[in-house]
Amino acid sequence: MGNYTIAVLPGDGIGPEVTDEAIRVLDAVASRFGHSFTYQKRLVGVAAIEAEGDAISDASLQVCQQSDAILFGAVGGLPSYDGSHKVKPEQALFKLRKGLQFFANLRPVKPLNSLLSASPIKSEVLRGTDLVVVRELTGGLYYGHLEPPVPGKPSEIRQTQQGKSAIDTLLYSEAEIERILRVAFEAARDRKKKVTSVDKANVLSSSVLWRQVANRVAADYPDVTFEHMLVDACAMHLIRKPTNFDVIVTENLFGDILTDEASMLAGSMGMLPSASLGTRETAHGRLGLYEPIHGSAPDIAGQGKANPIAAILSAAMLLQYSLGLKSEATAIATAVEQVIQAGYRTEDLSEEGTEVLKTQEMGQKIAAALAQ
Ligand code: IPM
Ligand code: MG
Repeated sequence: MGNYTIAVLPGDGIGPEVTDEAIRVLDAVASRFGHSFTYQKRLVGVAAIEAEGDAISDASLQVCQQSDAILFGAVGGLPSYDGSHKVKPEQALFKLRKGLQFFANLRPVKPLNSLLSASPIKSEVLRGTDLVVVRELTGGLYYGHLEPPVPGKPSEIRQTQQGKSAIDTLLYSEAEIERILRVAFEAARDRKKKVTSVDKANVLSSSVLWRQVANRVAADYPDVTFEHMLVDACAMHLIRKPTNFDVIVTENLFGDILTDEASMLAGSMGMLPSASLGTRETAHGRLGLYEPIHGSAPDIAGQGKANPIAAILSAAMLLQYSLGLKSEATAIATAVEQVIQAGYRTEDLSEEGTEVLKTQEMGQKIAAALAQ
């Protein structure tokens, strides 16, 4: 039994709908296991820009910093906030990631057996897939070379004699590479003991350095099988033979792209949770930010069509990594599996012979499965 404070940042588009269901499920966990969760809800994204003048206010950042964990919905993607605005909703994410030093983003991909046919990829290719992408989250092209880094403003557009030109910089230091590689090797030790380090060392200097550091770190983990893979080849192998992978570790932008691809192994973007971790300790464990990997999906917002499972599984990761509540996290995963196994789906996963539920109904089913 414990008391925990969770900062909740629902954000834009479908963010609030899916976050509400994650909270419903957390409440079911609280009553089943006798815990008490206090939620500190704050504005983020467009709502925060409109009400507070920034994508996330300093006061809200402070609430996050003082909480035991952060539950995040989604920001951005709204047509009304295109590149021409000075403050972009996505800056909230960059401020949180950089400000709280969440340099390691864990994105597990483990398709449920009863969802294999929901993926466009053949079931026989998918069966047995169980991988995690460890994405570097506070460096690379997202932040460029500005010192101090300007979150969310990685590019510069300049006027030249030949017209406008734009520049982004891919910068990594040895220390940044080493710490993310160590996260990957430590994760592999608890799993199938294999690390694939993904880069573009045949072209990029930052990748040549990445390989050198990766080789050095790998020497400290002789019990873990280690390989390098070029990012283009990895994109291909992910759908050719996903079962070959265990832990994939890679730089920020490669990880962003590969995880959208990998989400299709699990049937839908709506199934993939994530955890962003750093080194900040709390009274109960490590501070972390937990969010579904899908975006704000404004086209389906407010219609009850969103799949809340990625948000619910993100809440499970929150329990495991920041609160140290492993059995509670497993209970959520089991409840999700039971509900899917029973034939309930959201629209993104609908197939013949299944029953399509609205966002709230899916949350209620999962909460009810937990109560049993
Ligand atoms: C993600 C998202 C974000 C990113 C966007 C919303 C800025 O795509 O978390 O994968 O690119 O990191
Ligand atoms: Mg992404």
